[in-house]
Amino acid sequence: MTAIVGAAIEVARDAADAARLAADVVADTVRARPDAVIGFATGRTPRALYAQLARRVARRELDLRGIRVVALDEYVGVAPDDPRSFAAYLDAHVIRPLHIDPRRVSLLDGSAASDEVLAERCRAYDRLLDAAGVDLQIVGIGRNGHIGFSEPGTPFETATHLARLTEATRRDNADAFGGDPRRVPERALTQGPATIARARTILLVASGDGKADAVAAAFDGPIDPACPASLLQRHPRVRAVLDPAAATGLSRRGRGVTPDRSAPTTPRKADR
Ligand code: PGA
Repeated sequence: MTAIVGAAIEVARDAADAARLAADVVADTVRARPDAVIGFATGRTPRALYAQLARRVARRELDLRGIRVVALDEYVGVAPDDPRSFAAYLDAHVIRPLHIDPRRVSLLDGSAASDEVLAERCRAYDRLLDAAGVDLQIVGIGRNGHIGFSEPGTPFETATHLARLTEATRRDNADAFGGDPRRVPERALTQGPATIARARTILLVASGDGKADAVAAAFDGPIDPACPASLLQRHPRVRAVLDPAAATGLSRRGRGVTPDRSAPTTPRKADR
């Protein structure tokens, strides 16, 4: 690991090291609060992290049964029992391998409904997250700088919402849909930038040179909705775990720009 002094960005030696570092962030969260509320991202990148957590759980080094799991996003028009849904992803990569009681899981439901019903589900989800208080939100980053499915241009004050996916995002997510971007849903429900920013700690994971420009824009560029992840520069507790390829665009300034880990945090509702 290359520790960057004064910054919360860690550049791992390789993919396995990145998974271990990210798993340490989850383990630290749970050590401090065994009933932590943790938001789990989907996508390719966090899979190695979840596999690492599953190994620690299997070896009884880590007990995650007390946590509460919340989702980051979900496709619209894809039922939770559809294998392409993020509900199915979380079941396969998080809930079952980490031995989490499904009653401790809150998902976004994007299955068939009117836009009014979908909008009400988003509002209800924000109320739920607000009441629970998210301790740790895990996010990936899109090649276009999105976090969750909050695409470029989404105002930072946007809460959980019905998002229209860009063509680039549909291309990047085509694998699960037979490789055909046209079969990827056009819309999704997603925590908004404002929702994500309410988490006490945000853990961003990124790997591969395809993410280097987005990572540089997020931590080195202007804080601007054109790069939704740039909002993280304003958050008091961000941990970013990158593999060397994802970190190549980051200048020294970018490595130092993230806030100090010791910065004060917003207390959970229950603490106030
Ligand atoms: P990926 O997705 O991990 O599959 O690259 C990340 C994202 O789009 O947020």
